[in-house]
Amino acid sequence: MTTEKNKIEISGLDLYYGKFHALQSVSMPVQKNLITALIGPSGCGKSTLLRCLNRMNDLISGVKVTGKVLLDQSDIYSPTFEVTELRKRVGMVFQRPNPFPLSIYDNVVYGLKVAGMNNRKKMEEIAEKSLMGAWLWDNVKDKLHHSALELPLDQQQRLCVARLLAIEPEVILMDEPCSALDPIATMKIEELMLELKKNYTIVIVTHNMQQAARVSDFTGYMLLGKMIEFNVTKDIFTRPKEKLTEEYISGKYG
Ligand SMILES: Nc1ncnc2c1ncn2[C@@H]1O[C@H](COP(=O)(O)OP(=O)(O)OP(=O)(O)O)[C@@H](O)[C@H]1O
Ligand SMILES: [Mg+2]
Repeated sequence: MTTEKNKIEISGLDLYYGKFHALQSVSMPVQKNLITALIGPSGCGKSTLLRCLNRMNDLISGVKVTGKVLLDQSDIYSPTFEVTELRKRVGMVFQRPNPFPLSIYDNVVYGLKVAGMNNRKKMEEIAEKSLMGAWLWDNVKDKLHHSALELPLDQQQRLCVARLLAIEPEVILMDEPCSALDPIATMKIEELMLELKKNYTIVIVTHNMQQAARVSDFTGYMLLGKMIEFNVTKDIFTRPKEKLTEEYISGKYG
C-alpha cells in the first residue's frame, strides 16, 4: 500500500522485549492529515506499536525491532536516520498529562530553548500561536508565568499538545490521551484532534471504542501482538471482515 497519501508505512514489523514477541509482523499505513486509531484489549501491543513510530522503544533495554517503518518513504530504523530529528517530527502526548514543573510559558517554549533559541520576541510569538493551536490561549493568556501544575487536568493535557506544536511536528502520537479526563474534557480534546488533523497526521491509542468511532478515519484492531484487521473506521465498526474484530467490537471480550 505505497501511496503518496501515506505519511507512515509500517511493514512486517516485529518487536521483542527480550524473548517476548510483542509485535508480530505488523503492517499498517498511516495516512497524512487523517486520524488513525489503534484499538484492542489490554496488553495487545497498542502502546508498543505507537512507540515504534518515534523509536521510543529504543529507550527500553533488551528491545529488538525488525521490519520497516517508513516516514515519508525513509526508513526510521535505518542507522543513518537521526533519532533526535525523528522525535521532533513525530511527537507524543501521553496518557497522564506531564507538564514540567515550570510556568505555562516555559513549558511551551521548552523545546525551543533546548534547541538553542534565545530570541525572546520570536519565542513569545510561537508560544501564543501554539497555545492558540491547542485551544488554551484564552484560558491562560493572563497567567502565562503561573505554574503549569496549577491548571486543571484537561488544560494540562492541552498544554502538552501546545508544547508539541511549538516544535512543529508532522505527526502527533497520542497514547490514551483522555483516559485521565472526564467526559466534557474528553470531548474538548476530541474536538481539538479534529481541528489538528487539518495540519498534522495523528495516531491515537484508545481503550474507548466510541472514541475511535467518533474521531478516527482509519482503525487498526490488535490482538496478542498481531494486527487482526485494519480498515476505514466505519467499516471496522459496522461490518468487520474478521470474526475476532466482530467479537471485540460487540463486547464479547476485552
Ligand atoms: N518494557 C517492557 N518489557 C517487557 N514487556 C513489556 C514491556 N512493555 C510492554 N510489555 C508487554 O508487551 C505486551 C504489549 O504491551 P503494551 O503496553 O504495548 O500493550 P497495550 O495494548 O498498550 O496495553 P494497555 O491497553 O494495557 O495499555 C504486554 O504483554 C506487555 O506486558
Ligand atoms: Mg497501552
